[in-house]
Parts: sequence; C-alpha cells; structure tokens
Amino acid sequence: MYNKILVPLDGSDRARKALSHAVELAKKLGAKVTLMHVVPSLPPYVNTAVDRLGQAQQAIIDELMRNGKELLEQYASSISDKTIEVDTFIVMGQPADEILEKAKAENYDLIVVGSRGLGEIKGYLMGSVSNRVSRHASCPVLIIR
Ligand SMILES: Nc1ncnc2c1ncn2[C@@H]1O[C@H](COP(=O)(O)OP(=O)(O)O)[C@@H](O)[C@H]1O
Ligand SMILES: [Mg+2]
Repeated sequence: MYNKILVPLDGSDRARKALSHAVELAKKLGAKVTLMHVVPSLPPYVNTAVDRLGQAQQAIIDELMRNGKELLEQYASSISDKTIEVDTFIVMGQPADEILEKAKAENYDLIVVGSRGLGEIKGYLMGSVSNRVSRHASCPVLIIR
C-alpha cells in the first residue's frame, strides 16, 4: 500500500522522531524512503542586492546547502537496517511547497512529518510546514508528535 515514503527533515528532534516511525514502517512494508531537506529561500531584498551582497548571499546559500547535505547523510547512515532502500534529496525554496511538489510529481504514497520543527513555539500544536503539508498533500500524511 505504501511503497514510497517521503520524510521531510529540518534537523529538529521531532523530525528525527518522524524518521524513526518512517523507518519502522518501511521495514514492515518493504517501502523505499526518501529523506528530504529544503533550504529555505532567503528574503527577496537580498536577491535584488548589489554585487557584494550577492556574493555574501551565495556564500550563505552554499553553506546552507552543505549543511543540509551533511544532515541528510547523517540521517541516512543512522538507519541501521541496510535492507531498506534509502535516498536523499535537497532543494532550495519554500519548504511546504517543495515537499508538496515532490510528493505529487514523484507519486509518493505517504509523507511522514513532525508536528513541529526547529521554530517550535510553545502552545501551537502544528507548525506552518506540517500544517500546510497535511492540508494540501496529494497523498496521506502521518504527523508525528
Ligand atoms: N526546511 C525543511 N525541510 C524539510 N522538512 C521540514 C523543513 N521545515 C519543516 N520541515 C518538516 O515539517 C515539520 C514541522 O516543522 P514546522 O512546521 O516548520 O514547525 P515549526 O514551526 O515548529 O518549525 C518538521 O518536523 C519537519 O518534518
Ligand atoms: Mg519550521
């Protein structure tokens, strides 16, 4: 039923927990798991800036991409069951949009996401990414608290 599972990861403990759930499911179902990280786009005023700021912006992007790739590699190698098929994907953009787009375009049949992430503010049940993904996804979404 669930052959392709998408796990969006932002480096938070809750996302880490979501990955554990996804891995357990994948083990039982023989599903493939994709670990995905979105480097959030920088505010638009930086994009229209002069050369020197443009270079600084590029340096920030490079560093964020490097960090994200490292994060994904760490997550991937932490999966001890080597029978599970795992791949990683990193992209820049609006996290919720990129997650929704990937899930739809590549026919994922389950998204396992944390209820909250790095920006956790006490009192809110859901973050904006988990909220948007669960409301607009083309497939079932499992939200891990
Ligand atoms: N930049 C991102 N890349 C990939 N997944 C993300 C990203 N941001 C959030 N997520 C996913 O969405 C979940 C909820 O995070 P979010 O909605 O951003 O809550 P918060 O407001 O607490 O940060 C995370 O646990 C993670 O699974
Ligand atoms: Mg967040």
